[in-house]
Amino acid sequence: MASLIFDRFHTIGIIPVLEIDSAARAVPVAEALSAGGLPIAEVTLRTDAAIESIHRIADDVPSVIVGAGTVINRDQAKAACDAGAQFLVSPGMAEDVVIWAVKNQIPVLAGAVTPTEIMRGLNLGLTLLKFFPSETLGGLKAIKAISDPFPQVRFIPTGGIRLENLAEYLRMEKVHAVGGSWMAKRSMIAEGRFNEIQRVAGEARQVIAEFRQE
Ligand code: 3PG
Repeated sequence: MASLIFDRFHTIGIIPVLEIDSAARAVPVAEALSAGGLPIAEVTLRTDAAIESIHRIADDVPSVIVGAGTVINRDQAKAACDAGAQFLVSPGMAEDVVIWAVKNQIPVLAGAVTPTEIMRGLNLGLTLLKFFPSETLGGLKAIKAISDPFPQVRFIPTGGIRLENLAEYLRMEKVHAVGGSWMAKRSMIAEGRFNEIQRVAGEARQVIAEFRQE
C-alpha cells in the first residue's frame, strides 16, 4: 500500500499542501488541482475545517488522493484516517505517528533534516522522508550533503519550492517528489479562486511532464 501511494507521489511529482478554512472549499479545490493535472491533496491539520475537508474530498472526489499534513500526534493520525486520509505527513520525526502508521499500513512521510533524524526514520522502517523547510535549510545543496551517507534514502522537500525552482528540484536524483503550497495558497482557497488554482497547477504539471517523459 505504502509503495503504491509513494509511486503516485513520484508520478504526479508535486504534493499540493493545503490550508482550508472552510470545508465548503474542499471539493472545489481538489477538483481544480485535479483538472490542472495534480490529482492529490495534502490537507494540513492546521485549521478547524481540515478533518471535514478530508472527509468531503475522500467521499466526493475519489479520483484525488487525499492525505493529512501537519500530523503531530497519533490521535490526529487516527482522526485523519477515519475521515478518509490515504496518507499522513508530519513536519518532523513524530515517532508515535510513524509507528502507528507503519503498523496499520498507512503510507507516512515524516520530516528528517539531520543525520540523527534520518537514522531514526530508517530505524522505524522509512526510506522516503520529508525535508522541511527545504529552502531555509539550504535546499538542494543541503539535501545533497546529507544524502551522501544514506544512499537508501529519498526525500520529498517542501518549503520555498515554487514554479521557478521546481525543475531544479526534480532534476536531483534524491528528490522523489516535492511538496508546496504555491498552487493553492490559503488566500486563493479562501477567496474561491479555483480557476487560478487550476491554471497554476497546470503550469506546474507542464514542468513535471518534461521530467516524467509524458
Ligand atoms: C509545508 O507544510 O510543507 C509547507 O507549508 C509548504 O511550504 P510552502 O508554503 O513554502 O510551499
